[in-house]
Amino acid sequence: MKVVGISGSLREKSYNTIVLRLILKRFEGLGVEANMLPISTFPLYNPDERIVAKAIVDDANRQIANAHLVIFTLPEYNHSISGPLKNAIDWLSEPYMSSVFKDKPIALIGVAPSPVGSARAIAHMKTIMGSLLARLYNRRDLVVGEIHNKVDEEGQVKDAAFQEMLEVYVRELKDWLRINS
Ligand code: FNR
Repeated sequence: MKVVGISGSLREKSYNTIVLRLILKRFEGLGVEANMLPISTFPLYNPDERIVAKAIVDDANRQIANAHLVIFTLPEYNHSISGPLKNAIDWLSEPYMSSVFKDKPIALIGVAPSPVGSARAIAHMKTIMGSLLARLYNRRDLVVGEIHNKVDEEGQVKDAAFQEMLEVYVRELKDWLRINS
């Protein structure tokens, strides 16, 4: 079983990237191959530049096609997903109605210092992924607010309830995958 993780933040000390690493590490602990797919390499979306972007887009499409699950961690900017993430998704959204996300199991996690934890970004992402006909893990969106109280900047979890939440989330998500694949 293979999992690909995509963080919507380019920030070096991004909380979303920290939480994604924590999740992927737990999948690895359950014997699942887990890799992060960076979005910083995608140029600004311009269909005229398809040839320039081809190697990056082809590689990302290959990684996602080979994955049983794609996990997104979503920073929220102005009540929506980040521009860099939308940019990468736009590159990966072709061919129309049969992109790499069609029927792909995906899970959404929203992480923010605010108490509402990127919930609105998750809602927007559901619309975007719905348009690409992805298969959403709807049992539980992991909405993580007040993240600065739960992990430190080095990625150490400092909250026992959050630690437990991560373990349960990964176990349930893996069960869902097993049942659905
Ligand atoms: C934010 N932030 C933010 N947070 C939130 O919960 N809802 C929002 O709409 C916004 N909007 C927003 C706009 C701009 C321009 C900035 C700079 C910040 C805060 C944001 O969630 C916070 O900076 C996170 O830490 C970003 O995620 P990473 O980079 O830590 O993963």
